[in-house]
Amino acid sequence: MRLPAIILIALLIPGCGKKAPESISFRDHIQPILNTRCTSCHGPQKAEGKIVLVSYDALMTSRILPGKKPLVIPSNHVQSWLYILCATDQPHYRMPPDTSNRSLLPKAELALIADWINQGAKNN
Ligand code: HEC
Repeated sequence: MRLPAIILIALLIPGCGKKAPESISFRDHIQPILNTRCTSCHGPQKAEGKIVLVSYDALMTSRILPGKKPLVIPSNHVQSWLYILCATDQPHYRMPPDTSNRSLLPKAELALIADWINQGAKNN
């Protein structure tokens, strides 16, 4: 069976078809990732490392010690600890911790976090 040309063309254009949403929403895309992967250890009850990730405000006001660095630097995902700690290949630093038998973030979720930060880390 021959595929109609239009489908073939769509398949050949990179990014056509399944693709990250153009505009990443904190509420719809980022908080659900944090809820699934992080808040069991970074919620109000059990705030490991004094980091709480249950809301936009909690994320943006959490600070890494030492140096009290923010977790998110808008428009700069490579310098944002939220991204760095999830993306690093160094097991000693990575979140969720290696010892916790939690799965690491899939590439698609890392990409959503990077894109959201690079789009200005808005409370949208
Ligand atoms: C199984 C528990 C657990 C999960 C799940 C978890 N963390 Fe952590 N996290 C910890 C612990 C424990 C520490 C404290 C480490 C320390 O103080 O050395 C920590 C520390 C941190 C810190 C502070 C690091 C620092 O150097 O001060 C950040 C930021 C962080 N986690 C982000 C995340 C993110 C983002 C996720 C989800 C993708 C996540 N964590 C998931 C247990 C967890």
